[in-house]
Amino acid sequence: MQIGTLYGISVGPGDPELITLKGLRLLRTASAIAFPAGIKGKPGKAERIIAPWSISEQKMLPLNFPYVPDFDVLTRAWHEAAEQVWQYLERGEDVAFACEGDISFYGTFAYLAQTLQQLHPEVVIEIVPGVSSPLAAAATLGLPLTARDQRLAVLPAIYTIGELKSVLQWADVLVLMKVSSVYEQVWQILQEYRLLDRAVAVENVTLPEQKIYTDLCDRPTLKLSYFSLIVVQVRDPVLANTEISDGRP
Ligand SMILES: C[S@@+](CC[C@H](N)C(=O)[O-])C[C@H]1O[C@@H](n2cnc3c(N)ncnc32)[C@H](O)[C@@H]1O
Repeated sequence: MQIGTLYGISVGPGDPELITLKGLRLLRTASAIAFPAGIKGKPGKAERIIAPWSISEQKMLPLNFPYVPDFDVLTRAWHEAAEQVWQYLERGEDVAFACEGDISFYGTFAYLAQTLQQLHPEVVIEIVPGVSSPLAAAATLGLPLTARDQRLAVLPAIYTIGELKSVLQWADVLVLMKVSSVYEQVWQILQEYRLLDRAVAVENVTLPEQKIYTDLCDRPTLKLSYFSLIVVQVRDPVLANTEISDGRP
């Protein structure tokens, strides 16, 4: 018997209309829909994004991905999740895994896919790309995220706060993901570099509870939720009155 396919579906940053048509079709036709389980009895982000599309007649498969640093605990959880998904795949049934934002951009799916490939090398996995939160933030702010020759840096701030100053030496535009727990440290550095008025914090982009903080100068202790990012226009793009070369002499 042919095994089923595991589809990794990017469901976008929050607005259910930002799911791609292909992602929605596969969510509707898979036998089971997997997603990271919510915490404290609340639905997870991806589960909430797909909810309006009335796909609950299929088997819903919340998978436990604990938010802890202990590698053994994480590995056990990934193995358990992989075996839950494999039960369907080995019977020839497809599973669609819903992941918020784009699945390839700091997504939990990578751990599941890697564990499944180790445990069951014959597994078939297909990825559907989607709208990532920094791009949704740029759209919401009405800004091009980057233009012309600008260099973009993306930092998962919680792990890379020590690198922030060196990145500010070369980046023209900076996106800080996973920033909520280190916001105060970020604020101090942006103040030192006189960048607070060029920084915008965006929380829950494209969701009804979306918040935009355009002036961080008087917000040294802003309490942001986990689903927040900061965009810093470190240097202005040079757009006007500039001859754009096509590279020919
Ligand atoms: C584990 S990463 C997942 C990123 C996601 N795969 C994406 O493509 O946007 C989680 C981080 O993404 C950012 N994020 C995700 N969704 C967001 C949203 N709706 N609004 C603002 N930031 C968001 C936050 O920085 C959050 O800490």
